[in-house]
Amino acid sequence: MSHPVLPASGTFGYGEEFEPFLPPGTFSAIVPKSISVEVRSGNPPPRAVETPAGLLNSIGLQNPGLDQFLDSYLPILQSYGVPILVNVVGRTIEEYCTVVEALEGQPLVEGYELNVSCPNVKEGLRFGLDPQATASLIRAIRPLTDGVLMAKLTPNVTDIAEQAVAAEEAGADAISVINTLRAMAVDWRTGKSRIGTETGGLSGPAIRPIALRMTMEVCRLVNVPVCAIGGICSAQDILEFISVGASLVQVGTHLYREPTCLPGILDELRELLASEGMDSLEALRGNFDGDRDRLPDRQRPVP
Ligand SMILES: Cc1cc2nc3c(=O)[nH]c(=O)nc-3n(C[C@H](O)[C@H](O)[C@H](O)COP(=O)(O)O)c2cc1C
Repeated sequence: MSHPVLPASGTFGYGEEFEPFLPPGTFSAIVPKSISVEVRSGNPPPRAVETPAGLLNSIGLQNPGLDQFLDSYLPILQSYGVPILVNVVGRTIEEYCTVVEALEGQPLVEGYELNVSCPNVKEGLRFGLDPQATASLIRAIRPLTDGVLMAKLTPNVTDIAEQAVAAEEAGADAISVINTLRAMAVDWRTGKSRIGTETGGLSGPAIRPIALRMTMEVCRLVNVPVCAIGGICSAQDILEFISVGASLVQVGTHLYREPTCLPGILDELRELLASEGMDSLEALRGNFDGDRDRLPDRQRPVP
């Protein structure tokens, strides 16, 4: 990859919505909106509401389904010329497998981000809340592909690192953290939710400190690369996540505010590294000097 920044699934459509703003291939790889076997119409509107420093959404995994993705959207994504990491969602292990099998061998489909973490549909969380279920899913998909398998985890658990370790041990090549946090917004006059469902998923800067903490916890315990997601808006934000050990990042909600932000972020990233005398992110990765007594041995800084 030419740089570490990808778009977060569901905030970038299938790339085509971004064409008026910047060439979608400016991202180092593309993670499209989740794809399921069947067409999904999603949740009732309103589907999004702004909250302090954040966005509460309840899209409900609306997507065109596998067949239409293959016919209409994948060719558009392929035209951007960068790797595609297809975000997959299903109700059963078999459904995830069907999507992966159908996409194997497609040009530029370099791997899959398995969404085991959507808070807005009941079945989306079934895998993500149980480390053993997550592991079973990854074990079933692993033999189907030599491509990159990323497990996208939910923050709506007590111990996200436990989920990450289960995913790594089952064969995941990378971990993506985090999906949205279950949250709600209420209109007290009407006594109704401000979105079409009772609860939704919170994203944006409001969740960044939580995402940072969870990224640190996951990076301490797994050896595979971690792709950090959650409220990232700037080069400074990216460097914080790299500092706690992330290898890649995804920008999501910020793309709604500033769809053309990427070139500026990349320039600033280079400038900030240069100002510290660094020529690569490797020099910074994992430099966070946390609570040493709590670090596993392999993460302890060399005295
Ligand atoms: C409107 C919207 C739709 C989303 N749809 C998906 C999705 O289809 N699949 C998925 O894995 N994550 C989805 N997400 C979660 C994002 O990919 C990301 O994990 C989350 O928003 C946190 O990052 P952010 O704060 O940078 O937006 C969606 C987020 C938003 C705001």
